[in-house]
Amino acid sequence: MRGMKPFKYGCVVGSDFFCARPLLQSRLTEYVKDGQNVVLVGERRMGKTSLVFAAHKTLRGYRMLYVDLLNIRTVSDFCNRVATAAAQMGKKESFGSRAMRFLSRLRPTLSIDPDNGMPVVSVDARTAEDPRSMADVISLVERFAREEKMFVVFDEFQEVKKLEACDQVLALLRSRIQLLQDTCFVFSGSVRSDMVAIFTDPSSAFYKSALTLEVANIPDEDFIPFLIRRFASGNRVADRPFVERILEFTNRTTGDVQQLCAAVWSTTEDGRRLSEKDIADALQDVFAAEGGQFEFQTAKLTRYQMKTLVALAKWGGEKVYSADFLQHAEVPSTATLTKALKRLVDDRLIYCYQKRYAFFNPFLRAWLVSRGF
Ligand SMILES: Nc1ncnc2c1ncn2[C@@H]1O[C@H](COP(=O)(O)OP(=O)(O)OP(=O)(O)O)[C@@H](O)[C@H]1O
Ligand SMILES: [Mg+2]
Repeated sequence: MRGMKPFKYGCVVGSDFFCARPLLQSRLTEYVKDGQNVVLVGERRMGKTSLVFAAHKTLRGYRMLYVDLLNIRTVSDFCNRVATAAAQMGKKESFGSRAMRFLSRLRPTLSIDPDNGMPVVSVDARTAEDPRSMADVISLVERFAREEKMFVVFDEFQEVKKLEACDQVLALLRSRIQLLQDTCFVFSGSVRSDMVAIFTDPSSAFYKSALTLEVANIPDEDFIPFLIRRFASGNRVADRPFVERILEFTNRTTGDVQQLCAAVWSTTEDGRRLSEKDIADALQDVFAAEGGQFEFQTAKLTRYQMKTLVALAKWGGEKVYSADFLQHAEVPSTATLTKALKRLVDDRLIYCYQKRYAFFNPFLRAWLVSRGF
């Protein structure tokens, strides 16, 4: 019989799918216990959210108020996310009804998410458009924090930057959070976003208000044995060089590693000893699933942007202003190249780090190479 898929990606992972990160987990749990606010930063898909959930599991007696701020556009979105998180906190149903009563001034409505049966709170959009109405939602958090042992997580916190009233929202949050000395607030977000600026820009309300914890890649000495074991549990024989190859290909981005491993697993037979060729086959599988998205992402590029992107895929992004690179990219001038690079960065296809350009998605890079543009 075919075993269960031993790899998971694109979602928060726990239990068997989660590779322990002892150092980060213990740091985070210490901060929570000390009421020390912390900024969790890392590249996308490195495992920030999973880390937070894993830490919560080991924190006996603590509730977690987990607020996902992805795609908030208005102050009322912010209020809804916090109120909903409060209503969903723990298993006690009373949190929902108490949240409703407490927020009555914002005329909230309670509904049930048909997907998971969890309560969802929406406050009246008219009352909540005003940044001051946030104060009510924060008071609700304060109320719960005084009664319960808990910590608060604002995930994708950089999204606050997209709010028109961002400065007011940040100032209000900061002044109120400061008063909750015993409650830990975790602000999580990705590195290449506005996240860092919120905490390091001297003009920001949050300047120096929290310690930073960086969620980088999982160290090889933990991740390699974990991946070998996962392959074994799925009836595949993976050796160290094979797994190292996967880590190299994916730039050690945790989620991409799991995605490639999942593809290798599902394109090979039971009992197989894995080799480099299996990676090539697995990539075809990934391209079949995601090629449409890659087509879409690259269809809107101009000729020179596309040439630049392909050259980065084939030749790497270390010395983009060298004569060699310009020749490979077939762009007429450095000015054209600069413009193309900027657009590719703006489109979030590539990023620049320490003067080196790299792909956000290693599969897009491989797809470009395989298509032989
Ligand atoms: N400790 C871990 N062990 C094994 N795989 C992990 C671990 N943490 C994360 N992953 C893998 O990475 C993927 C992304 O994890 P997660 O959503 O926690 O990352 P994130 O940094 O919050 O991502 P995003 O920036 O998209 O919010 C997971 O689906 C899983 O495949
Ligand atoms: Mg996340």
